[in-house]
Amino acid sequence: DGNQGIVIAIDGPSGSGKSSTAKGVARARDLRYLDTGAMYRALTWWMLDHGVDVEDAAAVAALVEQPVIEMGTDPSAPTVTVDGRDVAAEIRGKDVTGSVSAVSAVPEARALLVRTQREVIEAARRESAGIVVEGRDITTVVAPEAPVKLFLTASPEARAMRRSKEVRTSDVAATQADLARRDKLDSSRAHSPLTQTADATELDTTGLSLDEVIGLVVKLADEAGQAR
Ligand code: DC
Repeated sequence: DGNQGIVIAIDGPSGSGKSSTAKGVARARDLRYLDTGAMYRALTWWMLDHGVDVEDAAAVAALVEQPVIEMGTDPSAPTVTVDGRDVAAEIRGKDVTGSVSAVSAVPEARALLVRTQREVIEAARRESAGIVVEGRDITTVVAPEAPVKLFLTASPEARAMRRSKEVRTSDVAATQADLARRDKLDSSRAHSPLTQTADATELDTTGLSLDEVIGLVVKLADEAGQAR
């Protein structure tokens, strides 16, 4: 099958539907799944747990090698552990969400996690398994050679609605403001900011159902698989 060993790279801002899409595509085509945002969140969780001031880039940089972050790549049951501890719930909390932009702006943190992400991709390819990787710098830095590269977007309102559902809040306006704050940080940082490049296919998910988006991406993946 043409999808063997395929790499599908998906970038976009939070709330654009990246995670649900990436998981859905991986399930539909029996591929692995890597949520790189969860890795930045896991590293942030460890820093907070160890009382590190995340605004102190030098302090963060000095400690990035300490935690052992492991990712399970089954799209139906993705896991994330830090030093053997399951932190799936903690990394979605307010504390981590409020601090993750600071940690992900530290070059040493990015260098380390990008290296790990490439290892996960290489391992999948070696075993002829395809993988869907989602984040902010996958199409540009982590896997620029991926045969399928996508940039997902959606209107600020649609993104805020989705994120509010995910975190179960009715305060959509506050969620939209928080998304705007993180977008600004993630797009303006000096190292590997969220950027859309011409060779990535833009997919505006505003008015589309999740199944429709998954269907479109699966079609692109199948076409790329046939072309190889
Ligand atoms: O997708 P997410 O909201 O879980 O990502 C959490 C944070 O990590 C987000 O603020 C940006 C950062 N991130 C990054 O800098 N690079 C990635 N490849 C993935 C996420």
